[in-house]
Amino acid sequence: MTKESTVPQHPSVDLAPFPPGFRWSAATAAFQVEGSRTADGRGRSIWDDFVDAPGAVRDAATADPGPDSYRRHREDVALLAGLGVDRYRFSISWVRVQPEPGGPVLQAGLDYYRRLADDLLDVGVTPFATLYHWDLPSAIEEQGGWLSRDTAERFGEYAAVVAEALGDRILHWYTLNEPVSTSLQGYAVGTLAPGRQLLFGSLPTVHHQLLAHGLAQRALRAAGAEEVGIVNNHTLVLPASGADADVTAAAVYDVLHNRVFAEPVLVGSYPDLEAFGIPPMPVEDGDLELISAPGDFYGINFYNPTTVADAAQGSPVPFEIVPTPGAPVTGFGPEWPIVPASLTELLLDFRERYGDRLPPLVIGENGASFPEPEHVDGPVGDGDRIAYLAGHIDALGAAVRAGVDVREYTVWSLLDNFEWAEGWSQRFGLVHVDFDTAQRTPKASFDWYRSLIAEARS
Ligand code: NOJ
Repeated sequence: MTKESTVPQHPSVDLAPFPPGFRWSAATAAFQVEGSRTADGRGRSIWDDFVDAPGAVRDAATADPGPDSYRRHREDVALLAGLGVDRYRFSISWVRVQPEPGGPVLQAGLDYYRRLADDLLDVGVTPFATLYHWDLPSAIEEQGGWLSRDTAERFGEYAAVVAEALGDRILHWYTLNEPVSTSLQGYAVGTLAPGRQLLFGSLPTVHHQLLAHGLAQRALRAAGAEEVGIVNNHTLVLPASGADADVTAAAVYDVLHNRVFAEPVLVGSYPDLEAFGIPPMPVEDGDLELISAPGDFYGINFYNPTTVADAAQGSPVPFEIVPTPGAPVTGFGPEWPIVPASLTELLLDFRERYGDRLPPLVIGENGASFPEPEHVDGPVGDGDRIAYLAGHIDALGAAVRAGVDVREYTVWSLLDNFEWAEGWSQRFGLVHVDFDTAQRTPKASFDWYRSLIAEARS
């Protein structure tokens, strides 16, 4: 953590490329901030199971109460109003709404999100809801989870229930958040829930999540939604060297992390998986038409580039992720190198690859964790975060200046929150949260972002 004045300053950010009407936002997700895991009939999700699994989450953190937003959402809304964001990205918890597939719908859960949306609208912040941010009902996981095609159908039904109940006040929707994380970390290597280690056996989860997106998009549109899209994590993949083996390994990783998610949505086909030694997807007639039905935007969460080398001998996968040479790192260490220019390059690559098929882009998440104290009793100086955000906003501006159509930038996160398998140990917030008391203390980055938004609008 760095100590410095909390006077807002953003000398290095060039706001000139951002057109009037460009949106500045902040995000959270249900399981990471809500707490109250058994309130009002809420059911169990794969993340409730994961936090109970010995050794799965750092320090056996349970995500409860954490920021306690289920009971304190008004404090969050007041912070958002003070920040002056255009929209608040939050997620709806499937297990607060319908814990059992085909089972009763819980009015109390829907009421919570209705109150949250109304309170946001009252202060002029547009609710931008994510239908799925990783908290799959355990009852659905027991029936195969995302390995099962049925899960896509269940998700379409859940989307219809939510759209029917909340579609009068929530008009802007993300369907699924980061399907790549669910497939690679949740089902391939097991570092996120549901903790499966199926390697290439996880691939059906890619297709079923994309199908779920298509079905949900259709349901939301039928209920009158104004804006619908999917958001994925994308990374700029860099070969560790110019050697053929590293370049090939990087190309395989690029397919698995980026292309296999973007191409069905943006161009209606999978890349040639066989050419990369990757097993085929369980595609049925009509799936790709549904998945590629035009979205109103395409969401990109961006954090870092990924440097990839050829796999060591005996590795079960044909690549290895290695540190990015020379890059400073976030609280995650070498796993999360800081290279803002890689955001510009990624966005230029998207435009190059998908051309006119690309709808307007939205940056659904960008941010960083750094070591910060658990308890504070005064201003929190987080210069490292300000530098990270400023660098990435500048990099985004460079892409916008080069003609990439990006409409929104979203900071992850409004609040310090439950960082999945890292528990409470990685703080991403513009606002410090004391996890013993849920006390919220805006950091210097909050003042900085507020003043940036004000200047962008002036
Ligand atoms: C992506 C996820 O969507 C979010 O839940 C997570 O906390 C951030 N990245 C940081 O890891």
